[in-house]
Amino acid sequence: MVTAVRGGIIVTSTDQYNADILIEGEKIAAIGKNLSYRADAVIDATGKYVFPGGVDGHTHFKAPFMGTVTTGFETTVGAIIGGTTTVIDFVPQSEGAGLVDSIIRHREESAEGKSVVDFGLHATVMDSRNSIFEEAPNLIKEGVPTLKVFMAYKGTPAYSSDETIFRLLRKAKDIGMLVMVHAEHADIIEVLRKQMMTEGKTEPKYHAMSRPPVAEAEATFRATMLAKAAEAPIFVVHVSCYDSMLRLRGARMEGISAFGETCPHYLILGVENLSRPDFEGAKYVCSPPLREAWNQEKLWEAVRNGWIQVVGSDHCGFNFKGQKELGRDDFTKIPNGCPGVENRLGLLYTYGVMAGRLSLGKMVDVFATTPAKIYGMYPQKGGLVVGGDADIVIFDPDWTGVISVKTSHQGLDFNPFEGLTQKGRVEKVLLRGTLSVDAASFVGNPGQGRFIKREPYGLAYAVSYAK
Ligand code: URP
Ligand code: ZN
Ligand code: ZN
Repeated sequence: MVTAVRGGIIVTSTDQYNADILIEGEKIAAIGKNLSYRADAVIDATGKYVFPGGVDGHTHFKAPFMGTVTTGFETTVGAIIGGTTTVIDFVPQSEGAGLVDSIIRHREESAEGKSVVDFGLHATVMDSRNSIFEEAPNLIKEGVPTLKVFMAYKGTPAYSSDETIFRLLRKAKDIGMLVMVHAEHADIIEVLRKQMMTEGKTEPKYHAMSRPPVAEAEATFRATMLAKAAEAPIFVVHVSCYDSMLRLRGARMEGISAFGETCPHYLILGVENLSRPDFEGAKYVCSPPLREAWNQEKLWEAVRNGWIQVVGSDHCGFNFKGQKELGRDDFTKIPNGCPGVENRLGLLYTYGVMAGRLSLGKMVDVFATTPAKIYGMYPQKGGLVVGGDADIVIFDPDWTGVISVKTSHQGLDFNPFEGLTQKGRVEKVLLRGTLSVDAASFVGNPGQGRFIKREPYGLAYAVSYAK
């Protein structure tokens, strides 16, 4: 099958130009003007932007968390309708199981045959007593060169000590693995949480007050120092605030290979949302928490200037009814995490590009290209590259609408971005050459997503420590 995408404005992380794209089978075969071809199908993209399919390096599908489970990979329909063609999903190590076994199980039982987008998997340490250090090379063999540790949640199996993280970092650099950290100071949070509950402060807003920016900034700093000591790269997920971003930026200025991600909810939503009446604040409970609004402009600046390199969704498909509600009398029982896999591109375009905060190229970079490079799947994913997968988004810049759960496809009963204006929308998406979204509706096949084996030594290894 030969498909041509004709007449669009191609936007990559580095260039913007008018050209046609020729697709043969699953791959991009040629990009250029006045290409001569005989195509089986021609897609007219005149007046539209043509972006690479998005890479969302931070999702939680079918993830057990706080006594409940997020929605499954069937709901990746939301991802593809939002222009994301690849997700990298975090796989929590199952209790008593190894990292590799947990990965294989998640892949076979949760993702394969269900996901409509291609997917990679990150390992997540949930039991550092197990043989995680010996397992790391086998993760690489499985195509999983990334592994997350939690500096928060002391007293639970999820918590990793500094010793564990330092040892992992040293192991990681020998094999090209990237250690990702959830950076929050466990002890500060535990003391504040207990104090709030003792004082009868049980509402959602106290979730944020028990996890102050200083707790995140300290842990971010410590993570970068551990990386420096190990001479290994480090990646800080979901940077929520100015203080934390400053530590990350400071580390890079010092020559440490420190990279980081923020999320649309930290760029756009403020902590005041946790005070919404009728327990609606629970919809906005995530960790790290939403911050005072002034942080948002600082985070946009960081994305614009490359101090934060990736915008991932940290998508957690919890419903309000029956899930977020679990913490009605106790904020510590509200499942942490917000949905957003569908809205990443629309929000970056509206509140980034159209608001003059990001260039189109930078938007593509943080949405698709740099995540693919950092996580070890470029140029197969994340770019418009001859020989790469034909994952292509055709975007209508003239559309204007309002985000609403009523028109969302994430399989949930709320959308945290409800009521926000969106400018531009995804009109068509091709996944490996197959038209999967047309007129903003899903037209692909259930379970069409494929597991993507990723390579070690991603972009974070391009910053080397001076000897
Ligand atoms: O609140 C969040 N972010 N939930 C998902 C788990 C994590 O820490 O990323
Ligand atoms: Zn986290
Ligand atoms: Zn997460």
